[in-house]
Amino acid sequence: MEQRLWWEKQDLEYRNNNLFFADLDVEEFARKNGTPLFLYDTDKIKEKYSKLKETFLKYNEKSRIRFAIKALSSKEILQELKQAGCEYVDSNSIGEAQLALQARYKPENILYTETNISNESLEKALELGISINVDSISQLNRLHTIHPQALEISIRWNPGKGTGEFPEIITAGKESHGVPVKFGIPESRLGEAYELAEKYNKRIIGLHQHIGSNLQGEKDLEIFLETVDSTIEVAKTIKQKFGKIDFINFGGGIGIQYKQEDEEFPLEDYAKELSEKIKKSNLNTFTEIEPGRYLTADAGIMILEVNTIEEKNQNLFIGVNGMFPRPFYYGSYHEIIPCERTNKFEEAIVAGNYCETELDLLTTYENNGKRTYKRKLEIPNEGKHIALLCAGAYGFEMLPILYNLKKIPRRFLIKNKEIQEINFTLNK
Ligand SMILES: Cc1ncc(COP(=O)(O)O)c(C=O)c1O
Repeated sequence: MEQRLWWEKQDLEYRNNNLFFADLDVEEFARKNGTPLFLYDTDKIKEKYSKLKETFLKYNEKSRIRFAIKALSSKEILQELKQAGCEYVDSNSIGEAQLALQARYKPENILYTETNISNESLEKALELGISINVDSISQLNRLHTIHPQALEISIRWNPGKGTGEFPEIITAGKESHGVPVKFGIPESRLGEAYELAEKYNKRIIGLHQHIGSNLQGEKDLEIFLETVDSTIEVAKTIKQKFGKIDFINFGGGIGIQYKQEDEEFPLEDYAKELSEKIKKSNLNTFTEIEPGRYLTADAGIMILEVNTIEEKNQNLFIGVNGMFPRPFYYGSYHEIIPCERTNKFEEAIVAGNYCETELDLLTTYENNGKRTYKRKLEIPNEGKHIALLCAGAYGFEMLPILYNLKKIPRRFLIKNKEIQEINFTLNK
């Protein structure tokens, strides 16, 4: 038997040189249905949700997992997660909140955290009855103008420190690698927020932070836990001023393994240490986390057709019929494999079909601030397909679908070996 590749597991593996995903022959499926397309393994998403929930409940009965819809935005996935027991979601737009409502989530269980929110969205959120998480003093003022009546709200604060795999996905601290951070109310303005909330009859009953994404290893966990300490202190002040604190939400950020050398996220320590800190605080509040990537990223793959294999200026290009956004946006590594094995390995660049030099290169990878574009790959054959792994979070959602007016990829869920296409409608 051939040695298994690092990413191979029961639901993603070669069988007789053909890639199988959740028991589906990927090359055959791609040929029949056309590409580009995304496949999502629903059972795996539900399994990951259950594992996470159990891990947290073990240490803290009052814990809740909110799915961050932005990672994989689909009514069908929301319905599946709900079936698995997920009652809470994080939305960052009215469009995401509407998806959750269509999937029959209770309005009050949809936490709405949008930065630089418009008055139009605020009005709509109030109309829908979803829970408002205030990101700025301006939002608090405008909320009062739109809705002078009493209201329970939560606030997002910036705990002064952030971490994450790439500078672009660090969302707390004054700056992320020189880029000023816009999210949340900074510590220096919390006093103002409390005063205004009291004056406006807006009772602060929740506190929220999100410090960054794709946290890896003990070092990131340590930074996260430092922010937990300061957030607990803020929560104590809120409880004192407003009489109670119903929940503290510690944001998303749990990392996954995109490449062989990535450290596994210390999930058990994360749940245990966070829960211990909460218990010790005697706040008697619900502890929430709101993961996106952890639940869906490695439960999805993107399939593209190889239409061109050609050497140009000593570079071997593998031309495909679409793009995937994360390598360009962040320099993030995604494993790329042929759906039919060839056992021919060479340095190559996988490139999409957009009128862009770098935007649609899929083998882009940034390490220590330096980008490379080529890597050793198993070279597919022209006319066959490749799979890009860990495409289930921030994949389809981040595509520049209007640019060049290319075909919008189709999306399919695989559930218990049955296949269902996900509808796509743009929010107006
Ligand atoms: C406010 C908020 N919550 C949760 C998440 C989900 O993060 P992740 O997918 O890293 O778990 C994000 C991601 O950007 C976010 O901005």
